[in-house]
Amino acid sequence: MNIVETSQEIRQYLTPLRHERIAFVPTMGCLHEGHISLIRKAKRLADIVVVSIYVNPLQFGENEDFDTYPKTFDNDVEICKKEGIDCLFHPHNLYPEDGMKVSLQINDMQHVLCGKSRPNHFNGVLTVVNILFNIIQPQIAIFGEKDWQQLAIIKRMVSDLHMPVEIIGSEIIREDDGLAMSSRNRYLNPKQRQQAVLLSQTLTKIKNNIKSHQKTAEIIQISKEELENHHISIDYIEILDETTLKPLASINSKARIFIAAYIGNTRLIDNSKLTSMEKIA
Ligand code: PAF
Repeated sequence: MNIVETSQEIRQYLTPLRHERIAFVPTMGCLHEGHISLIRKAKRLADIVVVSIYVNPLQFGENEDFDTYPKTFDNDVEICKKEGIDCLFHPHNLYPEDGMKVSLQINDMQHVLCGKSRPNHFNGVLTVVNILFNIIQPQIAIFGEKDWQQLAIIKRMVSDLHMPVEIIGSEIIREDDGLAMSSRNRYLNPKQRQQAVLLSQTLTKIKNNIKSHQKTAEIIQISKEELENHHISIDYIEILDETTLKPLASINSKARIFIAAYIGNTRLIDNSKLTSMEKIA
């Protein structure tokens, strides 16, 4: 496995391989089973797999965890070697010294869900993903479905801007008790770890109650109250169209339920597809 740190090096590495199908898995490191499933999917779908590890400062807000974001580089390298990836791209900095003077404008898709409480987050994500796509020029790129809003916005960027890369989502990998895997789970103390499972349980409960014809708004309100009783602070629980991220008049095959909540200081997200056809009341 090659480990390269500059865009020149990775371009040089990839030049003789351009006739192969190149898959790209962008990450911020602290790799876990969720990332491993992205890498394995990339390996199944392509000849060459490039993984990047870059904790992107642009996508963190002022009071967020950029400085403390977990870094486990040596372990990440071992995982990448074990998974048989071809190249690990680990740049120190991807931005000009005097800052980016050009940016992409995301419209309505960033004003919902996580975008409401993390105003510049998706601008930062799109900027870095663009830079990485331009450097690596993969045919396919794999993103986890846990960050569904990120996946939906990136798909839309690629479509709107006619970018020559196929975006592939990869299903959420969960702990045995249902907690969606996330690098931020390691911030949780044992008590918070027990509370965290309530997020996925709440999604399942809401889905089951919708199937049993209860009114959606009421079910969501009751679930919020239940979580708050467990000292979980809800950012949102919402049902939206999974492609446009717009509200739905009734639950159709594109309906997806999203949750974000703080357990202590740790912000966790999860989502799940809804399939029943009841009206949203
Ligand atoms: O999902 C992530 O880990 C990050 O948002 C990404 C896509 C690597 C961009 O920094």
